[in-house]
Amino acid sequence: MNLDFGQITPYIPFMLEGIWVTLKFVAVALVVGFILGTVLALFKISHIKPLNWFATAYTSIFRGTPLILQLMTFYFAIPQLTGYDISPFLSAVLAFGLNSAAYISEIIRAGIQAVDRGQTEAAMALGVPYRQMMKDIILPQAMKNILPALMNEVITLTKESALVSTISVLDLMRRAQVVGADIYRNFEPLLFVGLIYWIMVFGLSTIGRMIERRLKVSDQS
Ligand code: ARG
Repeated sequence: MNLDFGQITPYIPFMLEGIWVTLKFVAVALVVGFILGTVLALFKISHIKPLNWFATAYTSIFRGTPLILQLMTFYFAIPQLTGYDISPFLSAVLAFGLNSAAYISEIIRAGIQAVDRGQTEAAMALGVPYRQMMKDIILPQAMKNILPALMNEVITLTKESALVSTISVLDLMRRAQVVGADIYRNFEPLLFVGLIYWIMVFGLSTIGRMIERRLKVSDQS
């Protein structure tokens, strides 16, 4: 077997720095996705037809085309159409944030609609205004349906983030490629960052399981 991890040792700090880039990028994209996704979910359950149409079309487009295409579109189209350069990091955050919003809006919509109708009926019978009903009655219960699926989305985003290496963001994946090109050995750096991705995802799913367990406790009381 021809494996030589000795050669990647000097590059380990360089590759580890990619963890920060990847995490920062995922966190920002997630915040964008969550805020926009919540708005889209509210559009979807609203009774105003144009809002429904907009949110449905949005989701259809962002879920119906490959993420790598959306990423490249932002990266190449914005300079071409506006004349302004866009940094790889910003286009990546935009593409991932907007893409994730489509998925998150479905998670939130389904979570809200899974709350028993009786809750809405009771709130309406008591004369609770819509806004307050959503905030104090429906959304807190919907959270229980939403959180596990949202955790899944965080994991998906973390793994899919490797796509940003195609537009030269120096994330974990890109760093492995840079090191591979430097030492003429690709497998060892790939294996190394693969391990890091796995540890990150393992950590996230452990957190997810803890949250789920905690949410279940209140079911039993
Ligand atoms: N590989 C999928 C695509 O290219 C990734 C979609 C992103 N998924 C997500 N939950 N944000 O379309």
